[in-house]
Amino acid sequence: MRTQWSLVRLSWRMRLTVLIGVLILHAVNAHAAEPILIRFSHVTSEATPKGHGALLFKKLAEERLAGKVRVEIYPRALKFNDVQALLALLFGDIELAAPSFAKFRSFSRQIQVFDLPFLFSDVDAVNRFQRGEAGVKLLDSMLSHGIKGLAYWNNGMRVMSANRPLRTPQDFKRLRFRIEPSAVMQAQYRALGAATVPMPFKQVREGLKMGLVTGQENAWSNIHSKGFHDFQTYFTEARHSFLGYMLVTNADFWTNLPAEIRGELDKIIQEVTVEVNKNAREKAKSDRQRVIDSKKAEVITLTDPELAEWRTLLTPIWKQFEAQIGIEIIEQAIQANQPR
Ligand code: LMR
Repeated sequence: MRTQWSLVRLSWRMRLTVLIGVLILHAVNAHAAEPILIRFSHVTSEATPKGHGALLFKKLAEERLAGKVRVEIYPRALKFNDVQALLALLFGDIELAAPSFAKFRSFSRQIQVFDLPFLFSDVDAVNRFQRGEAGVKLLDSMLSHGIKGLAYWNNGMRVMSANRPLRTPQDFKRLRFRIEPSAVMQAQYRALGAATVPMPFKQVREGLKMGLVTGQENAWSNIHSKGFHDFQTYFTEARHSFLGYMLVTNADFWTNLPAEIRGELDKIIQEVTVEVNKNAREKAKSDRQRVIDSKKAEVITLTDPELAEWRTLLTPIWKQFEAQIGIEIIEQAIQANQPR
């Protein structure tokens, strides 16, 4: 009788064990079948090359990796500004970000090369540099911090603005320029004679409106989408510097992706990059025209002697940053100005 009871108990225990096993297996399978979540945080509007690129990435990834990948986008700094986004990336709260080069300063001093005034003659020169040896290496320059660069995304040449025409260094006196957290930009405005106020992109419109800052510089798509021309009357095109981004991910997240998913995402990113950079060229023209058409602002082109004065004042900044960036990187950037 005792043996019978223990057999019954044993079979119940076995059944329970099997049941728990089945439930765990089910849970594991269900988990394994969950799509991989990729959260992409950025600070610009959807109407910019970067905003457009993020949406296209989501579309292509969810179409081509249907059921395997899900993409959430947080635009307009809805969750994080750029500096916060890099920390969120490291803490695993997001998987993709595309901050402008200036935001990487704490992780790579070399990336400052992109902000040196008058170093690159135009967007083509920047693209040649990015495709060259130094540009490719810079994508991996933050690996020791756990950040991997996946691609370069363009916006366009930066334009400076204020409520007075900026033609000569004397015009910068007593102005307060909003800058990105960039030592290069700080040196640039110091040389021009203006004060600087580092400020996250999200606050710039309000900063201009309230008069906390009285000048700023950015690419046309950012100026137009944020309506900076509602509060700034004169926009000077000195073609002194370029606004671009590095699309970055958490290096561990990327390495641990299943190889076929990583391969497909890589292909998608290459495709999206081509589109972003094409869109950037178009927006640089069309948003510039929209600002002019608004009749709220005037675009100023510098004469050759004016430009020469700016160059004489600003190019010594390269030397100031040479030790941090590396002379070879600066030399490769200079070489990239020659079309091959
Ligand atoms: C800025 O901070 O002004 C820009 O870098 C914003 C952006 O991402 O284009």
